[in-house]
Formats: sequence, C-alpha cells, structure tokens
Amino acid sequence: MPGLVSIYDLTRQDMEEIFEDTEKRLNAQPRKELSGKIVSLAFFEPSTRTYLSFETAAKKLGAEVIGFTGEEAISVAKGESLADTVRMLENYSDIIVMRHRFDGAAKFASRVTSKPVINAGDGKHEHPTQTLIDLFTVRRNFGFIDNLTFGLLGDLKYARVVNSLLRGLKAFRPKLAYLISPEPLAARREILEELNYPYREVREPHEVIGEVDVLYVTRIQKERFVDEQEYERVKESYKVDLKLVEQMKKDAIILHALPRVQEIDRRVDKDKRAKYFEQASYGVPIRMSVLVKYGVEKA
Ligand code: NCD
Repeated sequence: MPGLVSIYDLTRQDMEEIFEDTEKRLNAQPRKELSGKIVSLAFFEPSTRTYLSFETAAKKLGAEVIGFTGEEAISVAKGESLADTVRMLENYSDIIVMRHRFDGAAKFASRVTSKPVINAGDGKHEHPTQTLIDLFTVRRNFGFIDNLTFGLLGDLKYARVVNSLLRGLKAFRPKLAYLISPEPLAARREILEELNYPYREVREPHEVIGEVDVLYVTRIQKERFVDEQEYERVKESYKVDLKLVEQMKKDAIILHALPRVQEIDRRVDKDKRAKYFEQASYGVPIRMSVLVKYGVEKA
C-alpha cells in the first residue's frame, strides 16, 4: 500500500500542499479528522521527539494510538519476524508509523501490508517526515526554498535526515549545497550521484560559512558506527560555536533535527539565527498533515 517511505514518494506539489495545510494548522483548533481510526506507532528503535510528536498529532486528530518503543517489550525479542509483526499491526490499525534500525525496513513493511506505512526513520537510510519539518522551517523563515545556499554539516555518512534532505531538495532548485564534514563522515557516493543541483564537498566549515543561508547541523550517529574506534576518532571533529556563528550571514538560519549532543555550543541557542527549537515545534502540525493525507485519503 502506498505510504510515505522515502521523500521521493512526494512531488514538489505534494510537499507544497503539505506545507500549506500545515500553515493552516498552526493557528487553528484541530478537527477530529481521524476520529474512529487507530494509528499504530511501531518504534523498534528509541525515539522521543518523533514518537511523541506522532502520538500528539494522532490524538489531536481524534485517532486512537497503540504502539511501542524498543524491541525488548514486544515479541521480536522472542524471534518474531518483522513481516509477522507488521501483519499483526495491520489487523489492529488503519495506519502504521514505523521506525527501525534496518535500512529499507519501512519499504519492506509497506510490501507486506495493505495499510499505509509512514517511515519515521529506517537505519541510515531515510526520515522523510523530518525533511518535511526541515523544509517547512526554511519556507517559514525565507518565504521560499529555491535559490538558497545550504550547508550540511557533520555526520553526512550515517545521518538519515541528511539523505532525505538532499533528496528532498531535488524537488526545489537550491543554488548550492555545501557538504561539510571530516573525511570519514563524508556523504555517501550513491546519494551524491542522484543529485540534480550543484554541490561541493568541504572539510572546514569556516571556508564557506559566510555564504550559507541554511546551516543544517547533524549529530554524529554513534549507534550506526561499525567500529567503536572510528567513532572515537571523529566524535569531536566539529562544533558550531559562537566564533563560527559570528561569520554567518545576518539572515541565515541554523537547523538541527535534534537530539543534540555537543555539536552546537549551547550559547548559540540565544542567537536569533538558531531555529532548531522552532523547527522542532513544527513536528506536530507537519505530522498531523501527513497522517491526514495518508489516513483519510487512502483508508
Ligand atoms: C533524527 C533521527 O532519528 O534520525 N532525530 C529525529 O527524528 N529528530 C536525528 C538524530 O537522531 O540525530
């Protein structure tokens, strides 16, 4: 059943419709558009923001929510296959929101169920609803998404939010994307080969920071490293501090999907360019819009 597995499942027009719908939700009393529906939140991997924002979104729309976080609590711990777990969720619910540590898990799930599957993060692959939040924040701040210079900083190799954002930007016309990372965390070739807009890989943020309109900072994805020592070598290899922010354009913005560890100095939070908490606040209305799109039209 079609759902939202990759950001490629949405055209520019689909995204713009979601953004316009989300705008309307910002100041409106929620309507019970999903009343009588059951949303299942199948989070095989830890999450706070994403889980709670989907739960809040579903409840505001009048849906019932069932769900779990972590594999220990459910029968996967007894050896149940993903396919069987998904078939069970299909019987109980109208829409399945899923997070999993394996790349491709959401796609796999969407093949074994007739209910729409929303990918809430699959391994180091994609996280499309986060990209909607990211692009919506850009649009709110600039009024548009085209013609901006993006700087993606940090763990571009393992962060799924980076893959979805780089892919999502293909539907727009970015002026340029700087991919700023230490060499071991460089973006994956197969993603770069897909891009249809100019990009440049750089190692040092200060070389390009003055040109960037949107600085997108990522956490080092410790849980995805195959080798602990590799993680130790890179774990403090970049940091956004006041000195770096000072070199940014006055109207630039700084985004981060959160959670943050040490990659943004907390003193940056007070700078008016820091928009990551504003960005997080769009999690609920964007996800309401997504749940209605897939839960009402298709169910
Ligand atoms: C992101 C994720 O899970 O990929 N978090 C989120 O959904 N807000 C980013 C991260 O964990 O670094």
